[in-house]
Amino acid sequence: MSTTPQHHQEQTVDESTGLATVADRATLGTADDHAALGTVREHQGPDIWCEDLVRIYSTEGVEVQALQGLNLVVDPGDVVALVGASGSGKSTLLGILSGLDRPTGGRARVAGVDLLSMSRAQRVDYQRHTVGFVWQQTSRNLLPFLSAAENVALPMVISGRRERGRRVEELLGLLGLGDCADRRPTELSGGQQQRVAIATALANSPAVLLADEPTGELDDTASAQVLEVMREAAGSLGTTVLVVTHDPTVSDHVRRTVAIRDGRTSTEVLRYVVTDESGEQRQVAREYTVIDRAGRIQLPKAHVEGLGLRDRVRLEHESTHVQVWPDDEEHQTRGGDGPAPPSGRAPDPRTGRSVRTQEDDDE
Ligand SMILES: Nc1ncnc2c1ncn2[C@@H]1O[C@H](COP(=O)(O)OP(=O)(O)OP(=O)(O)O)[C@@H](O)[C@H]1O
Ligand SMILES: [Mg+2]
Repeated sequence: MSTTPQHHQEQTVDESTGLATVADRATLGTADDHAALGTVREHQGPDIWCEDLVRIYSTEGVEVQALQGLNLVVDPGDVVALVGASGSGKSTLLGILSGLDRPTGGRARVAGVDLLSMSRAQRVDYQRHTVGFVWQQTSRNLLPFLSAAENVALPMVISGRRERGRRVEELLGLLGLGDCADRRPTELSGGQQQRVAIATALANSPAVLLADEPTGELDDTASAQVLEVMREAAGSLGTTVLVVTHDPTVSDHVRRTVAIRDGRTSTEVLRYVVTDESGEQRQVAREYTVIDRAGRIQLPKAHVEGLGLRDRVRLEHESTHVQVWPDDEEHQTRGGDGPAPPSGRAPDPRTGRSVRTQEDDDE
């Protein structure tokens, strides 16, 4: 749930999407209306919404399907870690969400803005005000000849925002950089540079902060510090964060981790705090498999390999869950009633599935 302030001004609504368009939003108020530190949202619904997103790269006659029908929904104020093997499509997705790249197909909206129908002017406005971006390479995020304070002020200068000095001070303070304001990037550590980069990305109060391995060039201590201040800053500003990371200190500490595999979101881990019978609170992590609109799911590799699932599986519909069975011969010869339930085997509490193994058959 977001605790961010809501914008109550009247707005024109796009009839097809029911959402305010970028052009409308530009008329909703001057930069001064956004003087408050927190993110202001004019749209309803999720901050990131992707449906069947496809991105095909064609180079020298060879096609690479970097995204193959990706679905993702992120609510306002959520901090989500995006993980996945090299080449799985993480940077491709962030490139599209940041407005730098266009998808080949599918639909995508960020903070109510339709990324496929943006004009060039709308794209510029989108990149200035709706999303902030932090790259892995520290040198790519900041201008080397400007001080930390000047770097943070720059996006506000470009968008004509007033009261910049106060906001620069607040942002640097929020990221623990109060004493670094006058230093240039070369006079800062890698971790400090990334924190300045985050402050810069947050300068124009974007609804969404996108970060592609922001701690990839840092050691463990600096990484942990950067990620912690990023989460805290985003939390206090109400900014939604999607951060690509290989770092378990991030993925283990955010409420939601989404795994991407072969250009599709495959599994998610959600972390909750539960109170047990003795009144003690503890964190529980549950793994889920993503299901798309058409009902497709991608079973985790470990399940597929561990149970030898291939070509086709048999589904048994129970009142509260679905069982997934390997398509083995014995199973087929048992006749029309389907496989006998494995004795004493409870459904997997995480997935709601109970899966028979060869061992069960041998019992
Ligand atoms: N500009 C491009 N032209 C052609 N193919 C590309 C381009 N960019 C990415 N790809 C291909 O698309 C696929 C996804 O790449 P992407 O950079 O999104 O992966 P990633 O998950 O970010 O990987 P990593 O963890 O290594 O950064 C890869 O097969 C990659 O080779
Ligand atoms: Mg990448």
